[in-house]
Amino acid sequence: MNIQPSSLEWKDAYKLLVGSILPRPIALVSSINKEGIGNIAPFSFFTAICADPMLICFSPMRRGNDGSKKDTLVNIESTREFVINIVSEEIVEKMNITATEFPSDVDEFKEAGFTKQESQIITPPRIKESSVQLECTLHEVLHYGEVPGSGSLVIGKVEMIHIAEDLYYAGKIDTKKLNPVGRMAGSFYTRATSDMFELLRKESKKSE
Ligand SMILES: Cc1cc2nc3c(=O)[nH]c(=O)nc-3n(C[C@H](O)[C@H](O)[C@H](O)COP(=O)(O)O)c2cc1C
Repeated sequence: MNIQPSSLEWKDAYKLLVGSILPRPIALVSSINKEGIGNIAPFSFFTAICADPMLICFSPMRRGNDGSKKDTLVNIESTREFVINIVSEEIVEKMNITATEFPSDVDEFKEAGFTKQESQIITPPRIKESSVQLECTLHEVLHYGEVPGSGSLVIGKVEMIHIAEDLYYAGKIDTKKLNPVGRMAGSFYTRATSDMFELLRKESKKSE
């Protein structure tokens, strides 16, 4: 099967994209609007860029119905700050509630039952129930269109890393204790720890 994405409706191209690139980690992004109202939304088009400077990125797509910007993007462009809260199995149900398109004047911490935890460097709060939280300032935002199916790339600089004490050992994060989940296609998710296997490199001195 050979398919040119340009020959597809965006929804069909999207299905092949999310069916090809998986499992994807999930960033639960907390931000605030100009009035200070808390917003939370999950983004699985999410990854790390580099360690020094510590940069991460995620991609909010334009809304499928009218091509408008999602609240997370509007908030980040106006405040230039946000928190990436890592999603572990313990908080997936609440995360799912935050994926609802609530009006921008609704506090999504309250709607999902998450607890606000004050950040140290930035104004938007962290999600207390998340075991790893990254306080970020906006480094750069790039836009790729304004219609449904298009999107933006938000690049954040990590200013502070918060890790739950029981996960942290010898400068590392214990994957099993973190128990992260990954997003698959559709409404499927996967556990990252239940079927882990090790593959050593020949040149084991390399760290990446
Ligand atoms: C697990 C999960 C991952 C998601 N990943 C993305 C994503 O990468 N990009 C995106 O635009 N929407 C993604 N969504 C949908 C948004 O979370 C949803 O549109 C949300 O309501 C946006 O909220 P906001 O308007 O408060 O920013 C995802 C939803 C779920 C449940």
